[in-house]
Amino acid sequence: MRYPLFDRLELLKIGYAKGVSLSWLSQQNNFFAMNLRELIDQKLIPNTCEKYFDEGFSVWEQQVALNNKKIASERWNSEAMLCQLIYSLIRAKELKLVVETGVANGISTGVALSALDHTGGVLHSFDVLAGCAELFPNAKNWHFHLLNLKKAPDELADTVKNIPETDLWIHDADHGTTWQRMEFALATQKLKVGGLLISDDADASPAWGEMSKKLTHQSAILLDRRKIIGITPKLG
Ligand SMILES: C[S@@+](CC[C@H](N)C(=O)[O-])C[C@H]1O[C@@H](n2cnc3c(N)ncnc32)[C@H](O)[C@@H]1O
Repeated sequence: MRYPLFDRLELLKIGYAKGVSLSWLSQQNNFFAMNLRELIDQKLIPNTCEKYFDEGFSVWEQQVALNNKKIASERWNSEAMLCQLIYSLIRAKELKLVVETGVANGISTGVALSALDHTGGVLHSFDVLAGCAELFPNAKNWHFHLLNLKKAPDELADTVKNIPETDLWIHDADHGTTWQRMEFALATQKLKVGGLLISDDADASPAWGEMSKKLTHQSAILLDRRKIIGITPKLG
């Protein structure tokens, strides 16, 4: 999929105001992908994902169109490529257990739930906004965990202890350095070997770059329309 040049230029010009540069981030990762197909070429995601890319895009469009609750700013909504990645991974790898932090208006949540309906899997989502709990009243495969902002790191760690090892962990919550470092470490412990950690706004702090340089030998950053996504597998 091609995005308007203007969006790409805006990303390069402005980036994440308080974060790290694209150039530094790309030096910490093994690969810098411009589209999802390149992640397949680099063997970061399986070939079979490709057949779900279009469906993932349609499901993302439906979630954006359906969304009328407006719990949070629309600028927080996940973009198409991140949602195609989530959707296609769940479908192609038949994932059963997914964790995400950061629900907001529920775009990535709705996309993941829709894919998990096909695989019989469940989603555990975490946010500090109570309104998120009402977003998917009929979803039987959804466990929403409301965190108290002041105790969020402890509450997240305690809740995650009671969840089995996970196939996919998606970070899209607090993008500060302290939180991202804490969450990436927790996710790395909790993922199955071969499971994937995905981060939206991987350029928001040095945390993704530090982790990918130190812990993994296989990691990529992917340019979405306005945002930069990090992806890395848990190695054995
Ligand atoms: C960028 S939005 C998430 C967007 C969402 N993934 C989507 O697809 O539209 C970030 C969310 O993280 C939540 N958040 C902020 N700090 C948090 C924390 N410490 N723990 C959990 N959620 C947090 C915010 O309330 C907000 O809803």
